[in-house]
Amino acid sequence: MRVLVTGGAGFIGSNFVRHVHRERPDWEIVVYDLLTYAGDARSVEGLERVELIQADICNEASIDAAVAATDAVVHFAAESHNDNSLHSPWPFVSTNLIGTYQVLEAVRRHGRRLHHISTDEVYGDLELDDPQKFTPQTAYNPSSPYSSTKAGSDLLVRAWVRSFGVQATISNCSNNYGPYQHVEKFIPRQITELLDGRRPKLYGTGENVRDWIHAEDHSSGVLAILERGQIGETYLIGADGERNNREVVALILRLMGHEPDAFDHVNDRPGHDLRYAIDASRLREELGWRPSYRDFEQGLAATISWYREHEAWWRPQKRETEARYRVLGR
Ligand code: NAD
Ligand code: DAU
Repeated sequence: MRVLVTGGAGFIGSNFVRHVHRERPDWEIVVYDLLTYAGDARSVEGLERVELIQADICNEASIDAAVAATDAVVHFAAESHNDNSLHSPWPFVSTNLIGTYQVLEAVRRHGRRLHHISTDEVYGDLELDDPQKFTPQTAYNPSSPYSSTKAGSDLLVRAWVRSFGVQATISNCSNNYGPYQHVEKFIPRQITELLDGRRPKLYGTGENVRDWIHAEDHSSGVLAILERGQIGETYLIGADGERNNREVVALILRLMGHEPDAFDHVNDRPGHDLRYAIDASRLREELGWRPSYRDFEQGLAATISWYREHEAWWRPQKRETEARYRVLGR
């Protein structure tokens, strides 16, 4: 098996590459990544049987050649940060929509298996007291330029399955945490702010709820779907990890030896989604998937240790990220 992993030098893609490298020792892995500000070749360096192609998924000739030379494609590559999409939406339209179109056309031409990675944000948000979580039947209702382009990419995949018989599956996952996540994202931003002697920054009231899952568990879910999922189906991936942002900040502060209220409130994100929550029954029942990280506090403590021990990895991202946030008043 030779698998092409688009976006494999990003946060979740690189966690998936290491997961597959460990769990499938006879597979060859080709990482196809443009190495934008969010990608880092060091996240996958030193692994045997892993090759890196630095190229754009929007480049028809490059993605075509790479797809032709592999058996299956797992498509992680995307612009992934909501705050950036509110400031500058074009890269999201280009990579998430046009890039996914080029991936679909390449797998169609060469008859390759595709697994498309998406997000729970395509479903919009839930009220805090809504008893119903997101399911594969929930209507699409995205809020931001990021989530609307991800929703559009899912619809393209569905159309290519139905109209052209492309052999594809889709997964929509909740918020990931773990090692190798860019410091622009919530959890690594707060950890690295504290390591730099500054206070965590909470958007708005901090009541917004996210459903946290470790990137390792997202990876095992994706591998199960790639190998045993039904073509044309959508699987939701989540580990019942709902917490509001205030609770997460208080936990990070406690685990790092600070008072739980030693944070600052900053400007809220425009159109900020209130709550996400995933019902992963199909993945659990049909494919027997189970998360291995069941204790968020333990997973978070391990993630804090990783950032403490890997300053050389995150330091180059930090100054520019905080400069961008200062412009946004966040
Ligand atoms: P990330 O921003 O950390 O990584 C994205 C990767 O894609 C980077 O390595 C980047 O260089 C690469 N890339 C961007 N544009 C490209 C292009 N045009 N051509 C080739 N490569 C390009 O993102 P992430 O958080 O790891 O998310 C990966 C995928 O998972 C995305 O599709 C995202 O929508 C989805 N997802 C993320 C989460 C989450 O919590 N982070 C949750 C659910 C789904
Ligand atoms: O739900 C899945 C999605 O999760 C993925 O599709 C996205 O790619 C990923 O970025 C993530 O989106 P969010 O917008 O939920 O993640 P982010 O890390 O940006 O923010 C998480 C929550 O924390 C959100 O409610 C905003 C808040 N926040 C964020 C930052 C960066 C803060 O309160 N302070 C901050 O400094």
